[in-house]
Amino acid sequence: MNNDIKAVLYSKEQIDEVARNLGERITKDFEGKNPLVICVLKGAVLFMADIVRQIDTYCELDFMDVSSYGNNTVSSGEVKIIKDLDVSVKGRNVLIVEDIIDTGRTLASLVELLKGRDAASVKICTLLDKPDRRVKTVKPDYVGFEVPNEFVVGYGLDFQGHYRNLPYVGILKPEIYENI
Ligand code: XMP
Ligand code: MG
Repeated sequence: MNNDIKAVLYSKEQIDEVARNLGERITKDFEGKNPLVICVLKGAVLFMADIVRQIDTYCELDFMDVSSYGNNTVSSGEVKIIKDLDVSVKGRNVLIVEDIIDTGRTLASLVELLKGRDAASVKICTLLDKPDRRVKTVKPDYVGFEVPNEFVVGYGLDFQGHYRNLPYVGILKPEIYENI
C-alpha cells in the first residue's frame, strides 16, 4: 500500500503538532461553552480522535455522515444525510471536524443545515484546506494545512475506499488512477 504513494505530504509527527496547536486554540475559544464536536464521517475519524484528545475542557462528541450532491445541476445548499446526529444542536456551540475542504459544497450545506436547526454557533476545524478549488464560500476557523491542488490520501482520506488507514497524508502515484 505504501508503494502506491508518490510523496508523503504530512507525517504523523507534523499532524500531531498541528493537532496540539489547534487543540490549544480550541480549548481557549470554547472554555465553558460545552461544545458539541461533530465528526464528519468517514474521512475525519482519525483527525477527530487527535483533536478531541487535545481539547482540555468539557465537550461532547457526535458523528454525522453526509454527501454533497456535488454538481451544478442540483441546487446548491443541499446535503444528503446518510447518518444524522444523535443529539440536538439547538442552542449548542458546534465545532465541525472535517478531513478536507475542497469546493466547499459539503461544508457550506452542512453549516446551513446546522444553523437552520438553531445551533448557537457553528465553527469548522479541518485537517486540510484546498482554497484554490473553492466554489462555495467556506472559511474554516481552524486549519491544519493548506494543500496544493493534488488528490491526497491517507489519515482518513480515501481513494475508492482505500488508504484511509495510512498514518500520514500523501499523494497517490498517477498510475494508480490510470489503472482504474
Ligand atoms: P467539497 O468539494 O464539498 O468536498 O468541499 C469535500 C470532500 O471531497 C472529498 N475530497 C477528497 N478526498 N482526497 C480525498 O481523499 C482529496 O484530495 C480530496 N479532495 C476532496 C472528500 O471526501 C471531502 O470530504
Ligand atoms: Mg469528507
